[in-house]
Parts: sequence; C-alpha cells; structure tokens
Amino acid sequence: MPLLHGEPPVIAIDGPSGSGKGTIARSVAQRLSFVFLDSGALYRAVALASLNTHTKEDDAEALAQLALTAPIDFSRNQDTGDAAVLLGAQDVTADLRREEVGERASKIATHQQVRAALLDRQRRWRQPPGLVADGRDMGTVVFPDAILKVFLTASAEIRAKRRHKQLIEKGMSAKIESLLADIRKRDDRDYNREIAPLKAAEDSVAIDSSLLSIDQVVTKVLDLAENRL
Ligand code: DC
Repeated sequence: MPLLHGEPPVIAIDGPSGSGKGTIARSVAQRLSFVFLDSGALYRAVALASLNTHTKEDDAEALAQLALTAPIDFSRNQDTGDAAVLLGAQDVTADLRREEVGERASKIATHQQVRAALLDRQRRWRQPPGLVADGRDMGTVVFPDAILKVFLTASAEIRAKRRHKQLIEKGMSAKIESLLADIRKRDDRDYNREIAPLKAAEDSVAIDSSLLSIDQVVTKVLDLAENRL
C-alpha cells in the first residue's frame, strides 16, 4: 500500500446525520482492512461524559477539558467480543445512540475549544495500512490531505424514514414527523455553526444516497478509492 507523504492514506466520509455514512465507512474500512474512526462517537462520548458530570453545555472550557481527558476507549465488550465504546470501565455503546446524547453532542460540537481538544485524538487513528474516517469535518479540517473525500447526503425525509425503520426494528416507538423535525434541527445546527460547519470539501466527491442501497454506495466508494490508492 503506498504511503502518501510518509503517512498512511485516509479516506474521509463526511455528511449529515442519518446519511448512512457510518454504515458505509465501516464497510469500506472492513473491505480494505483499514482502521475505522467514527468521530461522531467521540463527540457523543464527550457529550455523555458531560451529562454524567453535570457539566453545562455552554461551559466551553470545562467541556474541552473533558474532551482532552475523558477515558474514552474504542475497544471490545469483554463478554460479547463486539466492538464497543468504553467510558472508563463502562460499555456506553448503546447510551451513545440515545437522542439526548446526540442532541448534546451537536451542541458541544459548536465550541471551538472542544473541537481543538479532539483534533489530536482523531489524528492518532491514522495508522497503517490506512484509515477510513467518518464525521462532519474529516475532509475539511481533520484530514485535509485525505486521498479521497466523500460527501454523502440523503434527503431529510429519507433519513427520517431510515431512522424510523431502525427504531421500529429495535422495538422502540417513534413518529416520522418528530424524527424529521429533529433531523432538520440537527442539520441546521451542524450546517450553520460558525466553527467547522458541515460542508463539502472543495475536492470532495458528492454522493446522494437517497435512491441507492448501502451496497451500491460502498461499491462506488471502493471504486473511487481503488483509483487513488
Ligand atoms: O455522526 P453523529 O450523529 O454520531 O454525530 C453526533 C454529533 O457530533 C453531530 O450532531 C455533530 C457532531 N460531530 C461533529 O461536529 N464533527 C464530527 N466530526 C462528528 C460529529
């Protein structure tokens, strides 16, 4: 595998909540045997730590301190062997998916100090043979020299439907209208925040996944990656 500038290659996959980037990035990483970084999980873990410690959502300094020091570990659940996010000794994988945690993550992510504190933590994931990083600013801020930058979108309605299906499959109840309203609110904050807003890198390839299956998107990304690796 060629190393660009002596660094392992990065494939950055950015996009709004529910665009499918997590599933797609994970699958691309698996197919290439690359390391996978779910940067949203880092933001969510800091958000959860802030809720647990009653840190206020506007206390940028205390939040940045948490971002630097919270004992977040991407590891395996000792009982099941499944990939897990640990906060200290606790497996918080399921907690991170809670709506309240996602909402808090989106809020703390607006603080420049928090983003700066997470920068090094994210860059440390760049390991041989390469990294697939999923987030909002992977291609624009964290890994501007990524060999491939994908900006993955899907209409808000489609994303609300996908989220609804996921929740129903998990036996949880949900209303499409309120999911759609949540998605729009989250989009508004992520796209319009002053610091590192969600936006496509100039040299990114846009893929709209609204009418594509996961496999179709994965194949597209792998084709693009193959050309550049
Ligand atoms: O991808 P996600 O839904 O797990 O991310 C949760 C929140 O974290 C999202 O609303 C915005 C923030 N985030 C960010 O600002 N930058 C990233 N690279 C990843 C996530």
